Amino acid sequence: MEKKVTLTGLQPTGVITLGNYIGAIGQMVEYQEKYNSILFIADMHAITVPIDSETLSKNIRQLIALYIACGIDPDKNLIFLQSDNEFHANISWMLECNTYFGELSRMTQFKDKSAKNANFSAGLFTYPVLMAADILAYDADYVPVGVDQKQHVEIARDIAIRFNKKYGDVFKIPEPLIRIEGTKILDLQDPTKKMSKSSENQKGVIRILDDADVIRKKVNAAVTDSIGKVNYDPINQPGITNLINIYASLTGLNKEEIAKKYADANYGTFKREVGDVIIERFSAVQEKYNDLINSKRLDEILDEGKEKSREIAKKKYILMKEKIGLRR
Ligand code: AMP
Ligand code: TRP
Repeated sequence: MEKKVTLTGLQPTGVITLGNYIGAIGQMVEYQEKYNSILFIADMHAITVPIDSETLSKNIRQLIALYIACGIDPDKNLIFLQSDNEFHANISWMLECNTYFGELSRMTQFKDKSAKNANFSAGLFTYPVLMAADILAYDADYVPVGVDQKQHVEIARDIAIRFNKKYGDVFKIPEPLIRIEGTKILDLQDPTKKMSKSSENQKGVIRILDDADVIRKKVNAAVTDSIGKVNYDPINQPGITNLINIYASLTGLNKEEIAKKYADANYGTFKREVGDVIIERFSAVQEKYNDLINSKRLDEILDEGKEKSREIAKKKYILMKEKIGLRR
């Protein structure tokens, strides 16, 4: 049987945390075995809000190198940059003309983001249509996203169904594949909240490109409790429980095994071991990243992705033109 197609866009933020690594990347690595997997950097979505051009171009390259360093295999995924493929924006226009102002006005993300900045762009408003174009151009079966993007996949479905009704069978109707909340990794300084790249205090956040000594310091400074025993107890020992979760996710040991192994250890010893495991894993990723970031190989991957993705999207673009009545 033909493999199903999954497609995901990633915003170029340039930072990946231990939380992302454990929560999202592992799943993406699994998908590349199971599905025909398409992955692109949503750099055209990134410019819907103000962003400095130097930061943007640096982030795009960093992010793609990071994902590959983390195990996203260019031979198993179609990887490209959204802005390298002009058909996305062209398809988006034709879809926009089949999308209602009213339905875009109801998008939660638009309402939130536009409320924060009175001078929001028109692109922020039409953002979901470009996302629909991203998805529909490739006949994606599944769209793996966090729950915050579910509404955008749903509007992509609505637009596709409407277009098909009007013009005939043009698009496959995609389904969201909502990332199951696996283990949530918590902030090392405040284990009541999620470890997040946007957190104000980055002392509690481990980033994949942090140096070994920075990782060591952050783990050693992790907030714990006065109980003094390595125990899996999310209520009374959230800090230690978080460290157990991190250790478990990176080693494959289960939490009972870990609690037993460190039953007689003090927190200092346990923190050292957790630090070791993170440093070992991330230094392997960093080594791959450093090899890639300024390499020709990275450009080759992107050039190949550009060509392949354009070939696919162009077919859809021509079919749409024809159905609409434009000269093909
Ligand atoms: P974000 O960086 O918030 O855009 O999240 C991207 C994805 O990474 C989410 O959909 C989650 O699956 C995952 N993720 C982010 N932060 C964490 C965390 N602290 N623990 C577990 N998973 C996370
Ligand atoms: N809007 C998505 C986000 O912010 C990124 C994205 C753009 C996307 N196009 C997509 C995700 C198509 C899935 C499919 O996370």
